[in-house]
Amino acid sequence: MNAPHDLRHLEAGSVEMATAFAARAAARDLTIGIIGLGYVGLPLAEAFLKAGFRVFGYDVDESKISAIKASRGYIKHIPDHRLRDMNATGRLTVSADPAALGGPDCLLLCVPTPLNQHREPDISFVESTCRTIARTLRRGQLIVLESTTYPGTSEEVMRPILESSGLKAGVDFAIAYSPEREDPGNIDFDTTTIPKIVGADSDPERRMAVAVYETITEVVPVRDMKTAEAVKLTENIFRLVNIALINELKLVYGGMGIDVWEVINGAKTKPFGFMPFYPGPGLGGHCIPIDPFYLTWKARAHGQSTRFIELAGEVVSGMPRIVIEQLTEAMSTRLRKAVAGSRILVVGLAYKKNVDDMRESPSLHLIHMLRKRGAEVDYYDPHIPEVPHNRDHPEFAGLRSIAWTRESLAQYDAVLISTDHDDIDYQLLAETVPLIIDTRNAMRDFVETHTGKIVKA
Ligand SMILES: NC(=O)c1ccc[n+]([C@@H]2O[C@H](COP(=O)([O-])OP(=O)(O)OC[C@H]3O[C@@H](n4cnc5c(N)ncnc54)[C@H](O)[C@@H]3O)[C@@H](O)[C@H]2O)c1
Repeated sequence: MNAPHDLRHLEAGSVEMATAFAARAAARDLTIGIIGLGYVGLPLAEAFLKAGFRVFGYDVDESKISAIKASRGYIKHIPDHRLRDMNATGRLTVSADPAALGGPDCLLLCVPTPLNQHREPDISFVESTCRTIARTLRRGQLIVLESTTYPGTSEEVMRPILESSGLKAGVDFAIAYSPEREDPGNIDFDTTTIPKIVGADSDPERRMAVAVYETITEVVPVRDMKTAEAVKLTENIFRLVNIALINELKLVYGGMGIDVWEVINGAKTKPFGFMPFYPGPGLGGHCIPIDPFYLTWKARAHGQSTRFIELAGEVVSGMPRIVIEQLTEAMSTRLRKAVAGSRILVVGLAYKKNVDDMRESPSLHLIHMLRKRGAEVDYYDPHIPEVPHNRDHPEFAGLRSIAWTRESLAQYDAVLISTDHDDIDYQLLAETVPLIIDTRNAMRDFVETHTGKIVKA
């Protein structure tokens, strides 16, 4: 990695520092450090390499460092050839050595922000990363938090830890917050086509962060870090509340003999004032089941209630149980069989279609509930051949996806479609299995031809 330019002679935090930094960003003469090379950090590293920068990637997980060095993809939608292209630039350095963090001109933090077992924010990854950075923090560096978190984290948690170095934010070094809005697997949008919100608590710091991000995409600056943190949470709370609403409407309309999918298809033809959300077997993924509760927690500290968020969480967390009830009823009325002792196949383990990410996926929860009720349960997911170690259901680690053949499918009494991956032969399913509980409307093309065996749940 090239030696960073020395900004020590400048009045750091000043207009001059920002001007010099912005000029170097425009000339691609900065080393961009990315901390946390997961779903968010890796595509970000790629975007800055494509923009012409030197990139330094850091992760505590040594297996990711060796995989990148060997151009071995570890995220399905970022295959080997993209890692090869990144390495071929000659501008990528990766390491698990924290001593190297003093080198880059800016550090973008893309570390996890999960909930703990009490469903409260776990910002220990942000804290430990900041402590690591503080050891090598130098004048002129820009530190940006990208992880999703509650308003106030950058100001109340990140700033004091970094300032324990003896340097002062906004004077000696700069901090900013810029939420990641990546939607992994979405072929219509990526890091370079999604506008980037950038918030900082002073003009020079904001200018520095804007200068970095505007080299890869359109930037939307906001007043301060807590506003930027609130923008990200608002986006995900909006999704949670609407997903909960459409799931509730599914049940209400279902009771009236109305198909919610047809309702949505009709409503979405309105060119304004309506945005389609779709029902499913429950909430999944690293964002929507988690992020809204960061705000709930913080709101409590301010004596505010978040009834909408709590209610939405309650409605969607009840969905897996309702799906199991619908499956139980359909098995008893249509097959004259009980769940106990039956063979059931869950189709789709990923939390959404066409990805290999099963974090917080409702599918494992469904498998757990079915097994508890005495069913023999297998799964099929073309993107997840084997269940990896996971926090929620460690007992399922090592379970393998079945083969998708007429013979194997014929062994099941019922199939529960939990994720509607595109590359699944639904025709074969329609032909072989006596009962299909479909939570995603994946069987819409076969409902007429196979009436009686397909139940929309
Ligand atoms: N995945 C998404 O779709 C998405 C979208 C928008 C925002 N986000 C947010 O972005 C953040 C990162 O999410 P992700 O999906 O990339 O997570 P991830 O688990 O895929 O990646 C995080 C990486 O950080 C590494 N890490 C953990 N602690 C570290 C430390 N102390 N120092 C260096 N590296 C460390 C982990 O080894 C891992 O490789 C989270 O706050 C998440 O909420 C995620």
